[in-house]
Amino acid sequence: MRVTPFVLPLAAQALVAPRPHMKRLSSQRPAAALEDYCPPLPEAFEAQAALTADGAAEAYKASLDDPSGFWASEADRYHWQTPFDRSNVYSANFKRSAGPIAARWFEDGATNIAYNCLDRQVEAGLGDKLCFIAERNDEGETSPLQPETYTYAEALEETKKLAAALRARGVKKGDRVALFMPMVPELAIAMLACARIGAVHTVVFGGFSRDSLASRIASAGATCVIAADGVRRGGKVIDLWGIAKDALASARDQGTPVAGGAVILRRLDDAAYPEPQLAADEAWWHNVVTSTDGSDVEWMAAEDPLFILYTSGSTGAPKGIVHATGGYMVGAGHSFRTVFDAPVRADDVWFCTADCGWITGHTYVAYGPLLNGATQIVFEGVPSWPDAGRLWRIVDQHKVTHLYTAPTAIRALMRSGDDPVTSTSRASLKLLGSVGEPINPEAWRWYREVVGDDRCPVADTWWQTETGVIQIAPTMASGAGPHKPGAAMTPVAGCVPALLDAATGAEIPAVIGEEAKGLLVLKQPWPSMARTCWGDHERFENTYFSYDGYYLTGDGARRDADGHYWITGRVDDVVVVSGHNIGTAEVESALVAHPAVAEAALVGVPHDVKGSALYAFVTLTQDAEGQAGDELAKELKLRARADVAAFASPDTFHWAPTGLPKTRSGKIMRRILRKIAAEGADVSGLGDTSTLADPGIVDELIASHAGAS
Ligand code: WTA
Repeated sequence: MRVTPFVLPLAAQALVAPRPHMKRLSSQRPAAALEDYCPPLPEAFEAQAALTADGAAEAYKASLDDPSGFWASEADRYHWQTPFDRSNVYSANFKRSAGPIAARWFEDGATNIAYNCLDRQVEAGLGDKLCFIAERNDEGETSPLQPETYTYAEALEETKKLAAALRARGVKKGDRVALFMPMVPELAIAMLACARIGAVHTVVFGGFSRDSLASRIASAGATCVIAADGVRRGGKVIDLWGIAKDALASARDQGTPVAGGAVILRRLDDAAYPEPQLAADEAWWHNVVTSTDGSDVEWMAAEDPLFILYTSGSTGAPKGIVHATGGYMVGAGHSFRTVFDAPVRADDVWFCTADCGWITGHTYVAYGPLLNGATQIVFEGVPSWPDAGRLWRIVDQHKVTHLYTAPTAIRALMRSGDDPVTSTSRASLKLLGSVGEPINPEAWRWYREVVGDDRCPVADTWWQTETGVIQIAPTMASGAGPHKPGAAMTPVAGCVPALLDAATGAEIPAVIGEEAKGLLVLKQPWPSMARTCWGDHERFENTYFSYDGYYLTGDGARRDADGHYWITGRVDDVVVVSGHNIGTAEVESALVAHPAVAEAALVGVPHDVKGSALYAFVTLTQDAEGQAGDELAKELKLRARADVAAFASPDTFHWAPTGLPKTRSGKIMRRILRKIAAEGADVSGLGDTSTLADPGIVDELIASHAGAS
């Protein structure tokens, strides 16, 4: 079916115009001007689509008219050891005025997500189907000890063996296990093994520092750590076990015994990573993951926690977001199948480039694909290694049909021009996905036209660690579209978005034909929503439910005249750098810990590839005033790396001569800092500055812009 090209309403055209900071990257395409560009769904996609737009619309309506019936029938796809109460599929409270915030799904039901990912698939005859295909850092590289592929039966076997090994180390239902590993199939297997025995996994991204890992182990009270010796990332070897070992010691110093010690996957060979000496409570994976004896499934109540995933917040330490077994399972399975046009056919190969250290890797690598019996690539390397053609060669080699990656990767690859892409076939591709930050229309267009040869639609998917699954995304089905470049578009089944007026907190009614802009909130409970912050329910309530009756996302959004959503970015002090959420407070405290620093404030500035970059305003102590310069900037960057993570290191330091602009009540006016950082000495239109305690500080900051390091 052919759809008439859609002409964007005026205000939306303004939104899709290239942002001033976005330089034209490579691949200038002479076709329609970007602001007029809004292509229909590719015919080639529609011709083979598994889902229909009418079906999706009906499902959406059903999910709102009868959430209990809708989600109960979704839940019926899985094995429940004890059935859930069909007369009480869910209960929830989003109003603090009415009591504690809560959401409970599939009450009284008992299930196990790992069983549903693996045992159930094997029992259904998928035992020989490929589950994981490993792609290593180097092309053609093979692993000394791990297989390059796992069928569903093999993944089940390895999961059972690791589950038994964890039990033998004393790990039991409800215990927390911290995972610090590269993107290898064994990371997903480790998550599944924890889930099998009811242990709560907390995966820590392998790019985090020792201190970040230690504080997560301590905060979660982990009883065991699963790590790898190291990983090659591009041309470097990263000593994961060195970091994990120190973190383990540090967590123990902080009073967390970690009685189960550590299991370590041997990924590298002796030449790259000489075998380290292990302590008595530390063991190599291949020495202990040997027998399935003692790997019985632990049946979990639907509301039992499945995992904790730490995410940065506006203030304080990272929050341990807790997801519950039953609701997360039902949500993840449904989302993977319906958002990406059911990539589960015999020849479909799913490839999500996200790391399991982030929520995308949880839902769209470890769980969603397996709940649906999909075949997928698990990629340990980076898109730029050994060159910008890597992803496209992977696509060709494994006949990838569905690719899900981040705008930052797309923009970085776009800079290398079209040749690395066009020299590959990519004929297998059917659909392209994007996640993590807003995708600018230019990158969207390159993704669709160059990567997807204009045959593959682009799904810009908006969601968060806290939502568990995608919430707003274009409908991928025949008869849907066109999709507006740069818009996340429409809510998925079960999602009811709304906009609140930032000044009054009032909901802005959704009226077709009327544009609106405000705080993005979600109104209706959904199965895979986060249940709490680990050990701090009050923080959960304060952070996400400060507006009675709404889940507050922390993002701003516009709704265009057609009712489509455009995410405009964070409205709090979280900066999304290359798709990674960074809490500015965390990095600020790392900087302030340096003796030369009196005060620091971080803001995000637009960046061509990373989306946003960190920009630090720093005031030095009197004694250190003469130290402002590149040397100190280098030291402070190292400090941010060590205390938080390499990706949290500021790009720019702006030495603030006499302090930071504050209100009379002492609050730093970040709005002003953001403008100065983005616009420099030419900044204008600073808005209302009447609440500033000392307006002279702003002039000094503007004047000192040139001295930034
Ligand atoms: C941002 C990642 C615009 C947003 C799944 C959100 C996006 C935060 C998009 C959550 C998108 C994610 N368009 N912004 N398609 N996807 N974001 O928890 O600011 O790591 O609040 O979850 O990323 O990041 P998180």
